[in-house]
Amino acid sequence: MHVLVIGAGGREHALCWGVARSPLATRLSCAPGNGGIAQLAECVDIAVDDFDGIVAYCRAQSVDFVVVGPEGPLVAGLVDRLDEEEILAFGPSARAAILEGSKVFTKNLCKRHNIPTAAFERFSDLAKAQEYIQDRGAPIVVKADGLAAGKGAIVCETTEEALAAAADILGGQFGAAGNEIVVEQFMVGEEASFFALCDGRNALPLATAQDHKAVFDGDKGPNTGGMGAYSPAPVMTDEMCQKTMERIILPTMRAMEQDGRPFKGVLYAGLMITERGPQLIEYNVRFGDPECQVLLARWQSDPLAALIAAAKGQLAGYEVDWSERAAITVVMAAQGYPGDYAKGTEIRNLAGAEAIAGVSVLHAGTKLDGGRMLANGGRVLGVTAQGRDIRTARERAYQGVAAIDWPEGFCRGDIGWRAVEREEQQESEA
Ligand code: AMP
Ligand code: GLY
Repeated sequence: MHVLVIGAGGREHALCWGVARSPLATRLSCAPGNGGIAQLAECVDIAVDDFDGIVAYCRAQSVDFVVVGPEGPLVAGLVDRLDEEEILAFGPSARAAILEGSKVFTKNLCKRHNIPTAAFERFSDLAKAQEYIQDRGAPIVVKADGLAAGKGAIVCETTEEALAAAADILGGQFGAAGNEIVVEQFMVGEEASFFALCDGRNALPLATAQDHKAVFDGDKGPNTGGMGAYSPAPVMTDEMCQKTMERIILPTMRAMEQDGRPFKGVLYAGLMITERGPQLIEYNVRFGDPECQVLLARWQSDPLAALIAAAKGQLAGYEVDWSERAAITVVMAAQGYPGDYAKGTEIRNLAGAEAIAGVSVLHAGTKLDGGRMLANGGRVLGVTAQGRDIRTARERAYQGVAAIDWPEGFCRGDIGWRAVEREEQQESEA
């Protein structure tokens, strides 16, 4: 079959990597793709929000299955459009993608169905929001209601900071995404990313992962889309996964179905593992980036077959096999990210990195210029490695990083630190 992946980031490179190894895929395209994706798929220059262009390409090139990577086109209704055109697609409808598109929707759903999440209030009036913040005090979290590229949540250590965040967001810092804000209780615990493949009715838990959102070592500095990830997440024990399914994912699936918004695609729960168990921080309606890279590294059975089963409503009894090995992705970003950064700098010796056993370089923001690979985004590469444990995988990933000749790039030096500390502690106890 001819498969079309929509998107241009590291997540989409990982999806193409997974699809390309399926015997079901006889042809693979990606719109618009990037310099790395071009090595395994035909990249077509169609923007992710050009629905007419995507449909026209599907018709002209007999695309059988579309996998939508990013949230933007999902929230804007790309899967609905493809459904109308009778083109099979992986991803939620716009009505279901509202789980990511509106934090207010999700928080209300949690309240109605007793899904554990931080206590919250919503506001569109600044004076009322500020009164509430004064009343509650810090630490407290202020969030824009809509999509803000992962930057719309401000964790505030002081009341002053929270008052200013509320004023900035309601004042238009994130445009219409901030017409409403959610002010919520600060939760204490360890974060994890939990993924479930969903077919409208059934939810199949996938492997667990953890990412590092802050830009600098020691989880310092501003939040980014994600500077690295690893899988499995040691904090997600079998018991914690089961609680997450029972208390969070399955009630959400039932609520969405009752509401006439059955959820198909991948449901990504950002969790805080607290003393009282898993609490929902937020939902995303797509794979995480860079979590997708580590999931696809460990995904042993056919990933394409699983995505098709989800799209067709056939997940009952379905199983996915995972490698016992750990995987880690270290993101290399352009200096300056998540602020201003330069594009067009040259990256050399990617082949040297990939020659290291267990290392694959997934591209997040690159473009090919003749024979040269150029940086073309903030997050540029995801050096991905596997090993018998996180520590081994991490050593390999950093060997890969060291092999890459790109002076204008940087990465965190401590991806996986929590997991490595745990492994070392377990060893010293043994
Ligand atoms: P979000 O955009 O909602 O995923 O939030 C981004 C990041 O802010 C999360 O990954 C957490 O690190 C942090 N965060 C969000 N909400 C809370 C909360 N209620 N308590 C503590 N940290 C939070
Ligand atoms: N890695 C976080 C995200 O994809 O939202």
